[in-house]
Amino acid sequence: MIKHKKNLQKTVIAISLLLLSTIGFSQEKKARIIEDFNKNWNFKLGDYPTAIQSDFKTTDWRTLQLPHDWSIEGAFDKDSKTKQAQGFLPAGKGWYRKVFTVPANWKNKSVSIEFDGVFKNSEVFINGHSLGIRPNGYISFGYDLSKYLNFDKKENVIAVKVDNDAQPNSRWYTGSGIYRNVRLVASEKLHVGKWGTFVTTPEVAAAKSKIHLEVTIDNDNGIAKEFKLVTSILNAENKEVASFTSTEKIRAKTSEKKIHDLVLNQPKLWSTENPYLYKVVTKVYEGSKLVDDYETPLGFRFFDFDAEKGFSLNGKPTKILGVCLHHDNGALGAVENIHAVRRKLKILKEMGTNAIRMSHNPHSLEMMQLCDEMGFIVQDEAFDVWKKKKVTNDYHKDWDAWHKQDLEDFIKRDRNHPSVMMWSIGNEIREQFDSTGIAITRELAKIVKSLDTTRPVTAALTENIIEKNFIYQSGALDLLGFNYKHEDYKDFPERFKGQKILASESVSALETRGHYDFPDGIKAWPTKHGAAFDGNADWTVSAYDQVKSYWGATHEENWKTIKKQDFMAGTFIWTGFDYIGEPDPYPYPARSSYFGIIDLAGLPKDVYYMYKSEWTTKPVLYIFPHWNWKAGQEVDVWAYYNNADEVELFLNGKSLGKKSKQNDDLHISWRVKFEPGAIKAVSRKDGKVVLEAAIHTAGEASKIDLKADKTTIKNDTYDLVYVTVSIVDKDGNLLPNANDLINFEVLGGGKLVGVDNGYQANLDSFKASSCKLFNGKCIVIIQSNGKNEAIQLKASGGKEIPISSIEVKVQ
Ligand code: GAL
Repeated sequence: MIKHKKNLQKTVIAISLLLLSTIGFSQEKKARIIEDFNKNWNFKLGDYPTAIQSDFKTTDWRTLQLPHDWSIEGAFDKDSKTKQAQGFLPAGKGWYRKVFTVPANWKNKSVSIEFDGVFKNSEVFINGHSLGIRPNGYISFGYDLSKYLNFDKKENVIAVKVDNDAQPNSRWYTGSGIYRNVRLVASEKLHVGKWGTFVTTPEVAAAKSKIHLEVTIDNDNGIAKEFKLVTSILNAENKEVASFTSTEKIRAKTSEKKIHDLVLNQPKLWSTENPYLYKVVTKVYEGSKLVDDYETPLGFRFFDFDAEKGFSLNGKPTKILGVCLHHDNGALGAVENIHAVRRKLKILKEMGTNAIRMSHNPHSLEMMQLCDEMGFIVQDEAFDVWKKKKVTNDYHKDWDAWHKQDLEDFIKRDRNHPSVMMWSIGNEIREQFDSTGIAITRELAKIVKSLDTTRPVTAALTENIIEKNFIYQSGALDLLGFNYKHEDYKDFPERFKGQKILASESVSALETRGHYDFPDGIKAWPTKHGAAFDGNADWTVSAYDQVKSYWGATHEENWKTIKKQDFMAGTFIWTGFDYIGEPDPYPYPARSSYFGIIDLAGLPKDVYYMYKSEWTTKPVLYIFPHWNWKAGQEVDVWAYYNNADEVELFLNGKSLGKKSKQNDDLHISWRVKFEPGAIKAVSRKDGKVVLEAAIHTAGEASKIDLKADKTTIKNDTYDLVYVTVSIVDKDGNLLPNANDLINFEVLGGGKLVGVDNGYQANLDSFKASSCKLFNGKCIVIIQSNGKNEAIQLKASGGKEIPISSIEVKVQ
């Protein structure tokens, strides 16, 4: 109570101090030093315990830049210990080592190393001392290096052992190694602690919002300190819009929590359409000396899950139009790269996606940051397994020793992201069928609540018979997530009276981009456990949205159900993108999943446009398949459209009739006898043409077409450009069946870091300098190599087609 009053007082002072603030934050030199620590590591596959010693020779080790994933560099192997679930790629053990010096003036600083993720079982050593182990491959962690560092130009050695040898340990591709960023952080001994801020907005309204900030200050000095703590709220234009200063004391060698409360008039709200971001800058002064500065993202939004009305954001009823994502970046493997993540999210945003489920583990900082910046609602998920295993060597082995710390660290790292609106403590956890599930659910929910009470705790359940579901019976979930069984949704309000409900995972339909089986028709695989899949000899699956897992639904079946049920907060489709591993229902050589709305290379499958027509208000008219068939063949032509009353189809100028969606249809279709030429659709509203879409039969190959997603990239050794490659005829029509091998050469300021054609059974290396087109297309990923020269990509196919090239500037 007393504390509360004091805070109110502080708030008042904050507002009055606003204009009087004498310390201009922007002119000051930064106190906290954050260094990119990704460059110049040595790496070798195998086990090298003596690499921790300073005189160890790494002459035959590779030099590389992190993030790095050694699994993606390996060959697919039918007998790989990782098995089908992880895409038949290798795992094993590997060591990383880096020699570095630190400036003499760091002697009196606190210096730490931060790892965003190492898969898995890492042990980090500095100058021969073990700093600790971390079994969980998805958790961000760090160590204080201060007491072991050498100064005065004397070298330091960091060695990292990574042990991903015990297999199988996952139901999907994990990657191996230091696959996320590493930083070195140096601050004065009086500083903000690790993940040391927690900002909440106890009241949000357009007129006025409250900001509550908890700051944990670490005093690593041997004496008590008095200091000034300054909180500045900056808007998206970096202008200070509120500030508050307090004078504080801290004892020697302790961590203490300090509270600041502020008020902001007329805040701009964060939403999925306009994700307006503020930031909190926390500064610590000893006398007039700035000793630390620390940034925390801040967004003003309020949301609600309601048992009858579903989800609302800022008071506006909003369906969660989500997709589940695994963490891999296709041809880059698990290597995390902000540009790869931005591309994925951009493609999803265009489709109308407004939410991401971080399946089934903590994702990268970049992913979290971009969800804030680009406006996605996040379901942040901690675990796929608790104490009971799903596969032999999975996280159940580390559960007892690590789950508490892993869950706490996960929440502390992510709780400042305005995009995060749910904490999921698990996916399809085995304990839902076991009475031990009750106690564990309660324990985990308590851990979450001890760190954040502003978001509901949820879990993704499969069992919707109440008596059988012990996670539900715990009573500890604020929001019930259900995976699949969309036919049962209608009974949920009755069965789970008063509960808030979300379709945490749905669909699991299968498609191969650009492949079509005729006649179209619904097909489930297998119809029961163990039954063989009546698939295609080339391991393709038809791209008509008609092939589904027996537990799942087609995209249309699921969306029709969700859109009608107001109580349902929304849906997360399994999955946004294909991912490596889990190529069900096919065995080897299939090595990546079929579930994506978008293929592994990032090329949309046709059903992408069904979502676009339903999830956005942008006008859509999309027809498929391509128009290169045998004369007389019967072809099912589908159209997805919106904003129109009818669509008329024409074959070579002749009308094949008008159609419109009836009842809850999500597409219309015609069965057409193929003739070469043009198939064209025209959508009309009130008799006026809205859109036209046409596909022409492609003739002879004339040119390799290269389309880069950017014209300029940074020469920072990280930035990426994705180039889509296809073969077109003299009129620019895509050859939809082209499967030519295209060779690539990259000159100037870039290097090739990946190729992919999205074919789920392609066993060629993602790291090759050539790629076979699949159903007409493939992609090349080029990364800046740091040279300040324009990048030139040359692509050559067979003798008949001339070499093509494209230039991308660097700056
Ligand atoms: C779900 C599971 C996902 C994935 C999916 C495939 O049951 O949660 O991780 O395995 O099935 O359909």
